[in-house]
Amino acid sequence: MAETISCACCTFRCSRSEDIQFTYIAATSPTSNLPGPWYTRFTHLRLKCAVMTGQRIFYIDSLHKKYGPIVRLSPTEVGVADLDAFREIHKIGTKYLKSDWYQQLANFPKAGIFTMIDPREHGPRRKLLSRSFSRSYLLEHWESTVREKVALCVAQIKKDATRDVADVYHWWMLLASDVTAHLAFGESFNMLQTGQANQFIRVLKKLTMAAGIMVELPLLRLFRFVPIPAVQEIFNCNEYIFRGADRAVQLARSRPGEKNVFAKVIEDCEKEGEGTIDDMDVRIEASNVIIAGTDTTGVTLTYLTWAVLQRPQLQKALEDEVSKLPEGFTENDLLDLPLMNAVIEETHRLYCAAPSSLPRVVPQGGSQIGGHYIPQGTTVSTQAYTFHRDANIWSDPLTFNPYRWIPTKEGGSAEASTPDAKTAFHPFGVGARSCVGIHLARMELRYATAFFFRECKGVKLGKKTTPQTMEFENFFLIAPTAHRCEITFRGENMLGE
Ligand code: HEM
Repeated sequence: MAETISCACCTFRCSRSEDIQFTYIAATSPTSNLPGPWYTRFTHLRLKCAVMTGQRIFYIDSLHKKYGPIVRLSPTEVGVADLDAFREIHKIGTKYLKSDWYQQLANFPKAGIFTMIDPREHGPRRKLLSRSFSRSYLLEHWESTVREKVALCVAQIKKDATRDVADVYHWWMLLASDVTAHLAFGESFNMLQTGQANQFIRVLKKLTMAAGIMVELPLLRLFRFVPIPAVQEIFNCNEYIFRGADRAVQLARSRPGEKNVFAKVIEDCEKEGEGTIDDMDVRIEASNVIIAGTDTTGVTLTYLTWAVLQRPQLQKALEDEVSKLPEGFTENDLLDLPLMNAVIEETHRLYCAAPSSLPRVVPQGGSQIGGHYIPQGTTVSTQAYTFHRDANIWSDPLTFNPYRWIPTKEGGSAEASTPDAKTAFHPFGVGARSCVGIHLARMELRYATAFFFRECKGVKLGKKTTPQTMEFENFFLIAPTAHRCEITFRGENMLGE
């Protein structure tokens, strides 16, 4: 069996001893009887290759199209695109726990809310953070801050777009990091004023990027011993981050009772004796909040802008809707805008910022999933990208159509309100591990969309922003390949409805 398996970034040839090894892997692989390409019985290389080239969601989606809702991705991982199985895997109280991929991803000395696996550890931490990120707490303490930051961000966009072009990818990212950093630290980083991310945010981004690469290629961790500052900055930046995050600890400990998320977390913790949260926990969770809340919200706003500006009729309808808001409108006024909220939901569906696999492990005793027996310990991965484009659930699934979220004029229910659509749609994850920042994200998205389409009426896409530059790359989250999205008040619109 001296056959070559090749893909875009790797090629390998099997020798005789490897033949034996491969036969053994195939014979003992828990997934060997499942549908899937033959080589996935032996190796995860093809999957890794897709991950490293930013193509994972597309590769898995193509396998589902070819092999069905249950597909072997590697000897130990299975893709699942079956709705009943999805419900079972992610239901509240599920025994399918997060896989250790999350812990490998986090390059931190302790687990935090995102990476904790054991529900007995995760539950209390989640409870503590949920209170500080609840809608009522945010409305009382943070709405005015979010509003001010959005207004400033949109003013900056408008200034750039009037002079020449504005890169909304840059500005929406800055908005999202300025909001989460302010929440996490308890003081503003003022990045919207300077128009630049500060060093803490830049290093944190490098840390997340390096962590993503090192999960796939663990040997790269050795790079931290290379005595070149630029290399060390990428592969050994924990120390810098934790020194920076000391400020979050200092402010949280010195400002009880004030507008400070982690001061509240510490207070709640001490008041109710629910577990403990030490200084390292605060540093880690503060960094987690910034990592989890920045690119997700920034990318969603970028694709929302892109999707609407390609459709002048929709843009006009949205501008008309938000222009009717009263001066000094609030989050509650924004909830009443059907088209704007539908545009946000449709952006989450088609341009879901976190559309990748949410890997979970089959519990002891194995499971019957989608008509197949899957042994314990196997990783099962569901991805929003596939569920959000399933033609059995969504009509014309690749078309951006916000009206599917709005009941029909004749009094019929919205397409997106069917039970299947409700289950399939999960831009913020699902169950006990769903997004703790959902209310913050939704508040930012609503304010940003309203301010933008009120203040920037008639703005157009820049000439350099095209379907090609906006194609996604996928490294857990998505981003436009060009890492830019330009808009302008000058010149002609390049794209029609
Ligand atoms: C449009 C914006 C956002 C999207 C699409 C999004 C999406 C998600 C998804 C899909 C998950 C589940 C991940 C998994 O199961 O592996 C998640 C978890 C999480 N998100 Fe978000 N998120 C967004 C904004 C935010 C914000 C603003 C914060 C800041 C507080 C945040 C904090 C978190 C945290 C801490 C978790 C882990 C929760 C847990 O495991 O208990 N996210 N998010």
